[in-house]
Amino acid sequence: MKIAVLAGDGIGPEIMAEALKVLDALRRDGLKAETESALVGGAAYDAHGHPLPEATLRLAQAADAVLFGSVGSPKYDSLPREHRPEKAILGLRKECDFFANLRPATVFPELADASTLRAEVVAGLDIMIIRELTGDIYFGEPRSVTGEKGQRVGVNTMHYTEAQISRIMHVAFRTARQRAVGRPGKLCSIDKMNVLETMQLWRDIAVEIAPEYPDVALSHMLVDNAAMQLIRNPKQFDVMVAGNMFGDILSDEASMLTGSIGMLPSASLDANGKGLYEPIHGSAPDISGKGIANPLAQILSLGMMLRYTFNLPDWADRVDGAVKKTLAQGWRTGDIAKLGEKVCSTSEMGAAVVGNL
Ligand code: IPM
Ligand code: MG
Repeated sequence: MKIAVLAGDGIGPEIMAEALKVLDALRRDGLKAETESALVGGAAYDAHGHPLPEATLRLAQAADAVLFGSVGSPKYDSLPREHRPEKAILGLRKECDFFANLRPATVFPELADASTLRAEVVAGLDIMIIRELTGDIYFGEPRSVTGEKGQRVGVNTMHYTEAQISRIMHVAFRTARQRAVGRPGKLCSIDKMNVLETMQLWRDIAVEIAPEYPDVALSHMLVDNAAMQLIRNPKQFDVMVAGNMFGDILSDEASMLTGSIGMLPSASLDANGKGLYEPIHGSAPDISGKGIANPLAQILSLGMMLRYTFNLPDWADRVDGAVKKTLAQGWRTGDIAKLGEKVCSTSEMGAAVVGNL
């Protein structure tokens, strides 16, 4: 297995170091994996003048999977858009056609009272958000800001083809089917069909595909209502499927149900199961360099890689199990600690997970 390691900016390198310690421990136990690292994001811009240098893209394309940290820092906010760090992750998704983003939001029992919502609202929560990643207003043309000051016009375009909607719907239906052992599958499709034509197409295609999955109950929800329902009664959801923009927003919201955005991994898959694995949180410039970031989302992203791209559920279970045990033992970084609880550093958390593997 060849893994491209792209740590990126901010807390990316700090949490990646801990995930690589976990990977090293697994290799000592016989996991066959090679890694090769490259710069990406602001770090790559500083060194090579581009956030996604040719060599980094080629490394990602040649690898079987990509382990990605995070990119971005306010210090690059005034650069032209094509040189900003975010362009690196957007470019990787587009160039490698990683169109299916799986963002699980599960509550570890140990952290049920770390959420800002009452424990009984979130305890036992297990949602899978499937977000389309290569279309929508993120990539739609035209896009621009034109005109003179005082009369400027900003344009972005929500754009989806039938093929793009259809392939993400199939991923979502299949996921709902796989998760539903001994019960009917449940899929809630998110749109804004009351206002947007593109989203009417989204809903129509969901309805057209549904008969192919008679064992999955399909429902629809407008995105504004979904944002509200996620806070009101999140346990009504099983699998949710959304376009790029709505999925971006709802997955951040769902992460807070689990206690901290620092806990959530994600997988971005192409049609053949090759994937890019990254925490859903960003580079957290406010805490970077302090050694206090939570490395668990990065470590769990490694677990997802073993499960989804390499098809090694036993090894993935070991990683997930070690994280669970570490939480049960009381290890807490600042983001998941309750008032008065002892707080550990990034590297102490990583070491505890390695010890529990
Ligand atoms: C995410 C992030 C990215 C996105 C940014 C960094 C471009 O928010 O992965 O959710 O908007 O997709
Ligand atoms: Mg986001």
